[in-house]
Amino acid sequence: MKAIRIHAFGGPEVLQLEDIARPVPAADEILIQVYASGVNPADWTIREGGNDVLRSFLTLPLTLGWDAAGVVAAVGADVTAFRVGDAVYGEPNFPGDGSYAEYCTSKASRFALKPRRLSFAEAAGVPLAGLTAWTALFHDGQLQAGQRVLIQGASGGVGGFAVQFAKAKGAYVIATASAANLDYVRELGADEVFDYRSQPVEQLVHGVDVVLEASPLRDNAARARIIPVLKPGGIFVTVNLDVPFDEAVQAALVRQQATGALSNNQARGEWLEEIAALIDAGRVQVFISRTFPLAQVAEAHRESQTHRVRGKLVLEICPNDEPA
Ligand SMILES: NC(=O)c1ccc[n+]([C@@H]2O[C@H](COP(=O)([O-])OP(=O)(O)OC[C@H]3O[C@@H](n4cnc5c(N)ncnc54)[C@H](OP(=O)(O)O)[C@@H]3O)[C@@H](O)[C@H]2O)c1
Repeated sequence: MKAIRIHAFGGPEVLQLEDIARPVPAADEILIQVYASGVNPADWTIREGGNDVLRSFLTLPLTLGWDAAGVVAAVGADVTAFRVGDAVYGEPNFPGDGSYAEYCTSKASRFALKPRRLSFAEAAGVPLAGLTAWTALFHDGQLQAGQRVLIQGASGGVGGFAVQFAKAKGAYVIATASAANLDYVRELGADEVFDYRSQPVEQLVHGVDVVLEASPLRDNAARARIIPVLKPGGIFVTVNLDVPFDEAVQAALVRQQATGALSNNQARGEWLEEIAALIDAGRVQVFISRTFPLAQVAEAHRESQTHRVRGKLVLEICPNDEPA
């Protein structure tokens, strides 16, 4: 089968299209024929050798990609949740070989049936970013209906899902993005939007229950500045857990009687089922900004590395737009 592998860490030039053996699922795994794979900042971070959180998990050679939609091609002996032929989406095992390949294996618990409304390419844009938003908002942020949430980086992959999930759960959503993306974020359902470049968000927003840092910005000074928008008892959640809170952030949290959380996405099939239900009910949309054939993965990485992607980038591996 064809796969994009790396044998060394480095720039886009280390991405190699190779023919390798099709993997065999373990007892608790499924084999997925991958129709499409999402592209995420984690992919090029890992391609470059990882960060303080990821580095120790990485071994070479490695197939990248942790965002898949496809069809179940085989099931392990203990798997009862899926049958061969099911259309599925999910986040393949990490650590492990990923979804930039014609086939990948994964623990069945990390997958769910694909949303029926979505093509495979659209579905491949959901799992990693969607599960990151879900984990951060509802597990680490404990966001409840009626609460106020501020979502930073609302036009990106994670932020765009966070806006829609928070809204669907009945929260009041305040979102930040750059000027060109404010209308887009409003269309996703944000109640108030701010341009973080030209507006002093920390002076304009108050009484927030949860702040979600879903932007790629890794800046403790910026975190300390925004924490005063929280209510006492509020929670500051960041998905950028490779940059832990410094003393200034800890002090700001104490002053605000708030807590902070470094949030790592949890690949739970039952959350993907809830996300699929929201998508099939028409309450969450998937915005794919661009698709690429597998062989053009380096271009997809270059685009992701601009930090300017609205929505998601996807690799089409077995093009098929028929919802299954
Ligand atoms: N912890 C986890 O499990 C986990 C999982 C996935 C991702 N992540 C992390 O989550 C972050 C977001 O991921 P993603 O996939 O959503 O990334 P992404 O799609 O590449 O995010 C792009 C968005 O970031 C915004 N942006 C760029 N520079 C910014 C800045 N200086 N300040 C504020 N916003 C900025 C841009 O919006 P504007 O042009 O509108 O500013 C752009 O739309 C990344 O740092 C990623 O590493 C963590």
